[in-house]
Amino acid sequence: MIKTWSYIKEYQNSRKEILNSIDKTLKSGNLFFGNQLHKFEKNFLKHNKTKYGLAVGSGTDALIISLKALGVGNNHNDEVITVSNTAIPTVSAITTAGAKAVFADIGNDYLININNIQKLINKNTKAIIPVHLYGHPCDMEKICKIAKKNNLKIIEDCAQSQGATLNNKKVGTFGDFGCFSFYPTKILGAYGDGGFITTSSLKMYNKIKRIRFYGIEQNDKKNKFNKKYYANEHGINSRLDELHASILNVKLNKINSYISKRKKIANIYLKELKSTSLKLPNQKMNCQHVYHLFTVYHPQRELIIKKLRSKNIEIKIYYPFPIHKMKAYKNIKVNKNFKLLVTEKMGKGIFSLPLYPELTMTEVYKVVKTLKTVLKTI
Ligand SMILES: Cc1ncc(COP(=O)(O)O)c(C=O)c1O
Repeated sequence: MIKTWSYIKEYQNSRKEILNSIDKTLKSGNLFFGNQLHKFEKNFLKHNKTKYGLAVGSGTDALIISLKALGVGNNHNDEVITVSNTAIPTVSAITTAGAKAVFADIGNDYLININNIQKLINKNTKAIIPVHLYGHPCDMEKICKIAKKNNLKIIEDCAQSQGATLNNKKVGTFGDFGCFSFYPTKILGAYGDGGFITTSSLKMYNKIKRIRFYGIEQNDKKNKFNKKYYANEHGINSRLDELHASILNVKLNKINSYISKRKKIANIYLKELKSTSLKLPNQKMNCQHVYHLFTVYHPQRELIIKKLRSKNIEIKIYYPFPIHKMKAYKNIKVNKNFKLLVTEKMGKGIFSLPLYPELTMTEVYKVVKTLKTVLKTI
């Protein structure tokens, strides 16, 4: 079976380094907030060209902590504009923070439709969460202009776009916060959960540092409770442990090679599938797409997937249901003037082809050949 994703080959390739790193970490006597975490935080920030930031327990936590740090959700009428074609956690984080998600439609590029944003803003709007879905950046320059004009905060959902750039600027550096996920399938994946928050504000950094660890003050020497087991504000527990930091340290060194391998595979798909009836992803001129997913659209999706599966090619759908169609979120009212037409149309036809750095060329060309044959028969 050609899998959509697998970590086994990657682990085999890096096994020695990873096991050495784990062994060294376990022998260090530190399981949390030790050298591995500090090294990882420093190098991750360097890679993302961001001044401040810290690792947390997951991408979901990164979003929740960022919203809490900005006070979004302190008032139950607070609204956050985002999209419905995204992973559940983008929206569950907004709900957990106590705010309401408001959905803009997406464009044909699967990203937030900028033209919808201004029309959805009202006195309750507090923030925008643009999702750099599938590895392609949203148009952050326009989103930042709208946010500035309306005094709104921006939290970038970078869970799928580690390393992506817009005008050579990394995602996660445009808004108030950038939120990353190290869920194993991601561009930089751990072998468990993990996440990261980036920010250019020292004040916000200190705040997220407290929230990450039960509200304990970490950086204010003037505070008599500094580093004492004393909650200065309401916080949660969202730690990245030393073992995962040690694995991520090994993998962060290889991130550029992971991204270039993903791009190589994506370029083959783009070239070979160009003249088929599939709608292919496009990369905007000024952007670097990191191809977390290679998502295509076809109105006959179910038939195509069935035929590919019968030929041992696994296909996944991200996402089969827009969030506003899910039972848990049906209370989120869709603005009457914005019927989310593109979101709903795309939701019925999108699917993602196998793509991860260790996919072999034989496998990639088998996907291409089989898919072309299948498309001719429908
Ligand atoms: C777009 C998006 N946002 C947020 C998340 C949440 O990340 P995590 O699974 O690490 O909590 C994910 C990952 O599933 C995601 O794809």
